[in-house]
Amino acid sequence: MPSVTTVPGRWPLVGHTVTLLRNPVEFLASLSARGEVVKVYLGPLPVHLVTTPELALKLLASDKFDKGIVFDKMRPLFGNGLATSNGAFNQRQRRMVLPAFHRTRVATYAETVITSLATELRDSWHDGQRLELDAVVQDFVMTVAGRTLFSADLGPRVLDEIRRSIPVMLRHVLVRAFSPGFVERLPLKANREFDEAAARLREVIPEVVLGARGDGADHGDLLSALLAARDADTGEAMTDEQVHDEVVTILTTGAETTAVALAWFFHEVGTRPVVRQRFHAEVDAVLGDRPATFEDVPKLEYTGRIINEVLRRTPPIILMRRAREDVEIGGVLVRKGAEIAVSQHTLHRDPRWFPDPGGFDPDRWEPARAAALPKGAFIPFGAGTRFCPGHFLAHTEIAIAAATIATRWDLVPAAGHRVHAQLKATMQPDRLPMTAQSRKPPA
Ligand code: HEM
Repeated sequence: MPSVTTVPGRWPLVGHTVTLLRNPVEFLASLSARGEVVKVYLGPLPVHLVTTPELALKLLASDKFDKGIVFDKMRPLFGNGLATSNGAFNQRQRRMVLPAFHRTRVATYAETVITSLATELRDSWHDGQRLELDAVVQDFVMTVAGRTLFSADLGPRVLDEIRRSIPVMLRHVLVRAFSPGFVERLPLKANREFDEAAARLREVIPEVVLGARGDGADHGDLLSALLAARDADTGEAMTDEQVHDEVVTILTTGAETTAVALAWFFHEVGTRPVVRQRFHAEVDAVLGDRPATFEDVPKLEYTGRIINEVLRRTPPIILMRRAREDVEIGGVLVRKGAEIAVSQHTLHRDPRWFPDPGGFDPDRWEPARAAALPKGAFIPFGAGTRFCPGHFLAHTEIAIAAATIATRWDLVPAAGHRVHAQLKATMQPDRLPMTAQSRKPPA
């Protein structure tokens, strides 16, 4: 079989990590021109990368791959939850967890949590208020995640702890993943912060799980759905430990990704007058002054196209896997134990499917144009066996929050700061200072 091209720009010891950190989007976007399967080094670790939609789907649908190194490093945090587990255990968990994300449940989460928190946020600002919008949306999304999971009266202590701890852990997780194991045990500030945050979560979440199990009622929240889930074959419920792992997994995987997408949404709309004008026209036509509800989401069509375009341009970075056995993919032999990946940035910036890939054009998502894309060209939520269970919830939350806020506010980028993308656990804006300007003259 042919050997694989190693991408130029590799440094001794650190591999391509320097190039990746310096210029992540350009680096990842450049890979499709180098071959269907290429090799990069993340630190000393060789990783095969597939670069076509077809091979991406093949990789993500195959049962010959486990999750790989990043997820090994996350196991102390996620335990054996949906994102980190593998094989038959993962499939069983997935069957038990998916009903919690069903449309009808999402409708309830929207009704009981999302619309009211978005309205509260909208009503909390005054005209001309300066906002650090990245922090505002992160706080909003963490609060939504906390209340969606645990709608019952949670002491503010638990929600505060979740809001405080998860961002701390996410700040450090990627560096952990690509550093040698001993680094985690060094007496560094980053390690101390990570370990303390993990310990605090381990303390507060079991309290809530035990409390909810004790009362046995369906509160319409995610936790009730997890507790009610039964294995189709054995009829067994999840153990407390398993529920704990799923709760931490859902909070961590769901909140950061959604917050980053919502932050980019406001940035893109705020910096593009034509998009902003069309977005506001739609919000005015569909909502007038009232907050958005679950039923409004399909009517907010242009808003949905903006969301898609945000997820095309600034999706999560990479989906990593490890071969369970020797596997052939794209004419290349990937040895058992080797790491293999696909980056959404490579696929989403391929000019064959997305002309002017660096541009921001919500009209690419006009139904006929979107239908002409090859399957696998747009995979912000992954694909195949590990497809994101939270995709519909995320879309619903972003649409409701963005539209509700726009019924009153025009969020205008503050002068003096040029926003740039930063590689953390996801690709996020470094800072997002904005000013809330009233869209309606005072009554
Ligand atoms: C815009 C927001 C979101 C994006 C872009 C996103 C993206 C992704 C992607 C790409 C994966 C697949 C990872 C892989 O194949 O290795 C994934 C998995 C996952 N997501 Fe999301 N997600 C989002 C929101 C959410 C939300 C709101 C939740 C839950 C509340 C959630 C829960 C999960 C879980 C539990 C997994 C693991 C599934 C598995 O490995 O079997 N996500 N997400």
